[in-house]
Amino acid sequence: MNVKKAVIPAAGWGTRMLPATKSVPKELLFLAGKPVLQYIVEEAAAAGIEDILIVTNRGKSAIDDYFDYYPELEGRLSAGGHLDELETVRSVADLANLYFVRQKEIRGLGHAILRAKGFVGNEPFAVLLGDDIMRAETPVIGQLIRAAETYSASAVGVQEVSTAALSRYSSVKVRKLEDRIYRAEDMVEKPRPEEAFSNFAILGRYVLTPDIFPILEQTKPGYGGEIQLTDGLKALCKASPMVAVDFEGRRYDTGNLLGHLEATMDFSLDHPETGPWLREYIRKKANEL
Ligand code: G1P
Repeated sequence: MNVKKAVIPAAGWGTRMLPATKSVPKELLFLAGKPVLQYIVEEAAAAGIEDILIVTNRGKSAIDDYFDYYPELEGRLSAGGHLDELETVRSVADLANLYFVRQKEIRGLGHAILRAKGFVGNEPFAVLLGDDIMRAETPVIGQLIRAAETYSASAVGVQEVSTAALSRYSSVKVRKLEDRIYRAEDMVEKPRPEEAFSNFAILGRYVLTPDIFPILEQTKPGYGGEIQLTDGLKALCKASPMVAVDFEGRRYDTGNLLGHLEATMDFSLDHPETGPWLREYIRKKANEL
């Protein structure tokens, strides 16, 4: 299975991050030196993805601009001898071939993925949710692609979450195949405690086959009155093989204040320019508390 295409849904309102997201897409919020979305595009590119479709919406054209060349700015940086900054700005536009489509109506994640039908054509493709960033030695989407290839299956990235947290995610019924890899046999979106299959929740990464599109076209609105990707995947995993990959790495939900802060801290601790200073600052603060 050769996965060269990815879809990044990035059409949501960002209500949990208002007022910042009133005019700045939440995917472009700054996180330890670069926007959230850049981490996700870099993860896809590092896993060998060449073509990425970003599903956006009205008020989000700043995303297209961010991944474009900017000759006026680049000219100034070049004339001023700021060659490192020039390289940083320009390389963003060369990470992958980026395509954009608007969701037009906010009708759920499954509906957003349906907008990728024409782009995807007849190939397997990766999905990386625009809020979820990963800190991992091997790109998480690469871990899923490897498992999908091994088992000739589609794949969902899962990790165990607390029973209390399950209702914010989805719960997958699993049967162990090997260390960290399970057969996905059923799933439910935003389960009530009695509906959960296991504590394995899907966390923002998928490898899908185009078989998902006719299923999503028939999927009725589910949780929250929206067309849920999980409801489509529930049908897909019963019709064809799907694996659940308990991926190695830490996932951050940057779509809420605390998740964004955690990611900011951890990525800033890793960053050569800020890490040593932040370590010292945290020690000093801890003594004051
Ligand atoms: C989405 C998915 C859900 C998944 C979650 C975390 O929910 O629908 O299945 O567990 O992302 O990746 P949302 O965060 O959009 O409510």
